[in-house]
Amino acid sequence: MKTLDDLLAEGVSGRRVLVRADLNVPFEKTDASVISDDGRIRAVLPTLVALRDAGAKVIVCSHLGRPKGAPDPKYTLAPVATRLGELLGNPVIFASDTVGPAAAEAVGALLDGQVLLLENLRFDEGETSKDDAVRGAFADQLAAFGDAYVDDAFGAVHRKHASVYDVPARLPHYAGGLVLREVEVLKRISENPEQPYVVVLGGAKVSDKLAVIQSLLPKVDKLLVGGGMCFTFLKAQGHEVGKSLLEDDMVATCRDLLSEARGRIVLPVDVVAATQFSIDAIHDTVPATEIPEDRLGLDIGPRSVALFAEAIAPAKTLFWNGPMGVFELAPFAAGTRGVAEAITKIDGFSVVGGGDSAAAVRTLGLDESAFGHISTGGGASLEYLEGKTLPGLAALED
Ligand code: 3PG
Ligand code: MG
Repeated sequence: MKTLDDLLAEGVSGRRVLVRADLNVPFEKTDASVISDDGRIRAVLPTLVALRDAGAKVIVCSHLGRPKGAPDPKYTLAPVATRLGELLGNPVIFASDTVGPAAAEAVGALLDGQVLLLENLRFDEGETSKDDAVRGAFADQLAAFGDAYVDDAFGAVHRKHASVYDVPARLPHYAGGLVLREVEVLKRISENPEQPYVVVLGGAKVSDKLAVIQSLLPKVDKLLVGGGMCFTFLKAQGHEVGKSLLEDDMVATCRDLLSEARGRIVLPVDVVAATQFSIDAIHDTVPATEIPEDRLGLDIGPRSVALFAEAIAPAKTLFWNGPMGVFELAPFAAGTRGVAEAITKIDGFSVVGGGDSAAAVRTLGLDESAFGHISTGGGASLEYLEGKTLPGLAALED
């Protein structure tokens, strides 16, 4: 795989370099124009700075959210261009379309050392199309903007999308520093994890995590389950979960996993049960086996935090993906905070995988340097740990 350093050694002054970044950042729940966590923008800065300072014409492209293949102002990258400019210390030029006339004109006018951000890739149906020809046609248009391509969008390497998979087949291609660092870390914890190996999983759905649970279960000493997905496991143990998130069609699967795990899957013993999904809902901590039928669990309780912390403490390798509760709402943040703090205290190597958990670390004001590695990719890191071939990485290897 060729890397950014190889490209810099070849010389980029005056050349157009198309950089795929993952600038899919979260926005404030209360003000959709304010970026709530710019971690993904910061993570790609070293690559952009290196190219800019070497005199390249830097053309950045990214997706944001999941628009449906057509322009949708709700998902414009314009606020990201502003923030990127602030972080780079010079304004970033923003093209109001992705491969249309505005983009073509902006690319044509770009000077050496300038940075341009194209509008959201997913405003074009070609980006995510399952049809190779449709994706290919869009990739042709994107590739025409660059003389070389750098992929530093680790969070999107698991997507077989035009900008990730098809563009590198059309241009000399290089892996950026972020992609290289992420892959090195995941390789380290998947090939030879030092024991004890503890995995902490949260987030809404068991179905999203099933493949990773199945592939990690034989390797781990403990798998701690919190977040919305714990209720399907509690149900599988025969407990009622009230109005909590529940995947009925996964209950039987969870029962099988629990019996296969023989005690290695650890579930919460208490939960914060609320009358509704809202910051001002009435809420109480109740035993996980006694969730009232008119309540929904929105966080794990303090006894669960203590139980999880005890399992986390001896870990030599730890991987965490997914919040323990609705950490964005203050009354339901203590579980995620408590577990995150326990992770910061281990002597071993900890990896925080994922957009949401990484954002939680920063929005809760935890010390980022206390973790071994904070990944920018949720789905991507999970699929890597499942042992899947990631289309974006395969495309860079070819
Ligand atoms: C993410 O947020 O996990 C990445 O940016 C990928 O986004 P996607 O899941 O919408 O493809
Ligand atoms: Mg995601």
